[in-house]
Amino acid sequence: MVPRPIIIDCDPGVDDAVMLMMALASPALDVRAITTVAGNVPLNLTSRNARMMCQIMDRTDIPVFAGCPRPILREPVTAEHFHGDSGIAGLDPFEPDAPLAAGHAVQHLIDTLRAARPGQYTIVVTGPLTNIATAIIMAPDIARGIDRLVIMGGADTEGGNITPFAEFNIFADPHAAAIVFDSAIPCTVLSLDVTHQVRAEPERLTLLRALPGPRAAIMVQLLEAANVLEARWKEGRMTPMHDPATIAWLLAPGLFESHQATVSVDTAPGDRFGQTRVALSEPGPHEWVTMADADGFFALIERLVNNT
Ligand code: BDR
Ligand code: CA
Repeated sequence: MVPRPIIIDCDPGVDDAVMLMMALASPALDVRAITTVAGNVPLNLTSRNARMMCQIMDRTDIPVFAGCPRPILREPVTAEHFHGDSGIAGLDPFEPDAPLAAGHAVQHLIDTLRAARPGQYTIVVTGPLTNIATAIIMAPDIARGIDRLVIMGGADTEGGNITPFAEFNIFADPHAAAIVFDSAIPCTVLSLDVTHQVRAEPERLTLLRALPGPRAAIMVQLLEAANVLEARWKEGRMTPMHDPATIAWLLAPGLFESHQATVSVDTAPGDRFGQTRVALSEPGPHEWVTMADADGFFALIERLVNNT
């Protein structure tokens, strides 16, 4: 099987770090580049954390490009309360051996997608959509090189996690999200509606902890730290597998149920700022994922980590 070429745009972030471990462990994915954006923590930290994960996975060959240091219009918002001051709670931060790749993430996206065959690349997006929106504004023709965007963001039935209505990635740059959803590029959207169904329950971590090798232990450390932070804010709840859901969907779409929909974003000031609106009544360009098989999801993680 020819591995699927992907670019990952992210803001690590503890769950982004787990997502990167899954992607870099999978022989079915050919991660061509990682682009970083300001989100959970400022850009210098998301960029360092992405490179840390490449080093941990022994994949320093993958270039990491730093992207936009702030959202398009709104004031920056971060989420250290869920990810720790370093953005990567559970790991001792270190300065990675590999430097950032030269050039801006948005320019790299544009150059790569313009040079691509039609539909060659899948783009996984697990942070605010600033880099992707900026690339679309600068070079709308890049749509041709994209098979699909696989986005973690938004919420419908679950309500928000940063406000009662908004999910963090969309709230952190709603104008960028609106540009992306309006662009007609096919999107699969893994929102809180589905990520809240898959949590790092203690018995699942026990199974992971029993696996051999340092990487399973590192993943457990990350998820345990995320559980401590989650419990501080949402008593009795284990951390949801937000960003890892993108890679699980790519590798095992049969674990999920979804509906074609049209997603839009509330950008008007007020208490609904950053809310996603999901019209399921008529089939649209967006695939809104509604259900996940949580046990199958963790079995996939075990297989991936066991491979490394
Ligand atoms: C999303 O927000 C971030 O804090 C996480 O990394 C994830 O991408 C969940 O709402
Ligand atoms: Ca993220």
